[in-house]
Amino acid sequence: MATPVSQGGRRLRLAPSLLSADFAALGDAIRAAEAAGADAFHLDVMDGHFVPNISFGPALVAAVRARTKRPLDVHLMIEDPLRYVEAFRKAGADTLVFHIEARSDPMVVIREGHRLGAAVGAAIRPDTPLSAVEPLFDHLDQVLVMSVHPGFSGQKFIPDVLPKVRAARERLDAAGSVADISIDGGVTEETAVDAAAAGATFFVCGNSAFVGGDISENLRRLRASVERGAARAVR
Ligand code: DX5
Ligand code: ZN
Repeated sequence: MATPVSQGGRRLRLAPSLLSADFAALGDAIRAAEAAGADAFHLDVMDGHFVPNISFGPALVAAVRARTKRPLDVHLMIEDPLRYVEAFRKAGADTLVFHIEARSDPMVVIREGHRLGAAVGAAIRPDTPLSAVEPLFDHLDQVLVMSVHPGFSGQKFIPDVLPKVRAARERLDAAGSVADISIDGGVTEETAVDAAAAGATFFVCGNSAFVGGDISENLRRLRASVERGAARAVR
């Protein structure tokens, strides 16, 4: 079952991040997350340059694609996203999210992603101001606000990013945009409430989905938090 709540007409979605799943049993993790009502899957691609960690590439995205029909949200924490847009799209990515701090020309990445039929998002690190992506708002399907420093799952949520979520929500609403605001990093039952209240619509959950406890209970709690937060959002 998909998350049956909305914010300004937008669906609120939970996207478990497979970085926190057991890589040796990904098929099981995907099946369990789907049964628990995951709306999409978030896949964290790390190149060891843009971030210190290395995760996986297009082959793993393709393997996941073969196991699920849910949207695949591919978060490119890589230095040169333009070079890999086509490979990840061919592997089955529905949304390609690149970092504004990376080397590629943002408008070229966006155009290329759209040309290949993907939705495109732009991500900002916790220390990057919203103004870095605002000029792109008309062209984006998603704005991803990182709430931890990219590179690892299981870190603590940085609440200082919430004003950026609020400002993005206001500007997207004012422009009549249907773009998602994704919040990524340290999203838990506690922090999801504030992120939803600030206007996030897409909730990446790694450790809070896959580590400890039962995934269906974990997603049920996360969804309840998101609904509570969205109800608190005044719009
Ligand atoms: C961090 C990644 C996140 C991470 C989320 O660089 O972008 O998507 O996997 O994991 P949690 O929810 O555990 O912080
Ligand atoms: Zn991510």
